[in-house]
Amino acid sequence: MNTVTVSASKTYDILIGSGLLPALGEQVKKLGKAQKICVVSESTVFPLYGKAVTESLESAGFSVVNFVFPAGEESKNGSVFLELLNFLAQSGLTRSDLIVALGGGVTGDLAGFAAACFLRGIRFVQVPTTLLAAVDSSVGGKTAIDLPAGKNLAGAFCQPSLVLCDTDTLNTLPADIFRDGCAEVIKYGILYDPVLFAHLEEKGLSFDREAVITRCVELKRDVVVEDEFDTGARMKLNLGHTIGHGVEAKSNFTLSHGKSVAIGMAIVSRACGCPDTPRILAILQQFGLPTTTDDTADEILSYALSDKKRSGDLVKLILPNAIGDCAIMPTPVGKLKSFIQAGL
Ligand code: NAD
Ligand code: GLY
Repeated sequence: MNTVTVSASKTYDILIGSGLLPALGEQVKKLGKAQKICVVSESTVFPLYGKAVTESLESAGFSVVNFVFPAGEESKNGSVFLELLNFLAQSGLTRSDLIVALGGGVTGDLAGFAAACFLRGIRFVQVPTTLLAAVDSSVGGKTAIDLPAGKNLAGAFCQPSLVLCDTDTLNTLPADIFRDGCAEVIKYGILYDPVLFAHLEEKGLSFDREAVITRCVELKRDVVVEDEFDTGARMKLNLGHTIGHGVEAKSNFTLSHGKSVAIGMAIVSRACGCPDTPRILAILQQFGLPTTTDDTADEILSYALSDKKRSGDLVKLILPNAIGDCAIMPTPVGKLKSFIQAGL
């Protein structure tokens, strides 16, 4: 097992390893005070891991209630959020009690936002079960729900008290969803770490999960500690996301987030003339991720501009200079179309 400690507005450990789920109860007990725990999970993940989690928590002496919602992004909305808050109230959770989020990024975001709001804030623990959640969404305290006007438009910064990532849970992930998470893993290599990137090139999809997740989490930890509230360095994590969001929204979200980000990273690499573009395209293809789209620059632009990463007339694009070295480039909206065009 590897441990990464985050020291931001709250200090907490991220535990990463195989076979960790049965230890959840004892790890949560170390956080102190809680008596009741609400496990928040969804209809695909709970049948797979709900029993192990509940048993572990109960063996450690907690009283456990479960809130299980229908799997999928469509559930990350205001009405499920309110249902969850009502459930917490009816179940009698107090300010010293805890939420455990068991699932992917949808579960972590929804449960984390409920934890931020219920009784003006209770503690929560992330138990990520997708690769994306393991390397990204469970770490750093961004929580949110979607509004009809767009994704993640209501939320809060709220750090978890513990993250427990049992890498065995990734064994049941459909291959396509695992690949989506790989886009985020590759992103960390392009942003910060040529050694990680080379390991991924060498091993492909059979990379060392515990070591790679740990490295990604260390990299994210460093960014979160430097810029917890996303006003500077943390924006780099949006590599490929602004243009990727355009492609994703244009597809009416039928193209997955990971594949959209892969296309976004390919477009910005080509457009800025990064000398490592051939390696970036090759690794995305090696992981079965797309690097091109049939969408036009106009189409991508119109959807990309609805993204919340825009600030006035400037969009902060993240551009790779080389593998392991990226820059934040404020780009006037008027120049975006020709930039995208150059990268198609
Ligand atoms: P998800 O939670 O919907 O999981 C993807 C799919 O995998 C779902 O169908 C789920 O049921 C299934 N699944 C999850 N774990 C499984 C397992 N172990 N075995 C089998 N099936 C499993 O989505 P995601 O890709 O994990 O996360 C995407 C969400 O994360 C989006 O809502 C996005 O906005 C959010 N996100 C948040 C942050 C953040 O910093 N908070 C960062 C990135 C993404
Ligand atoms: N996933 C981007 C962030 O945490 O800032």
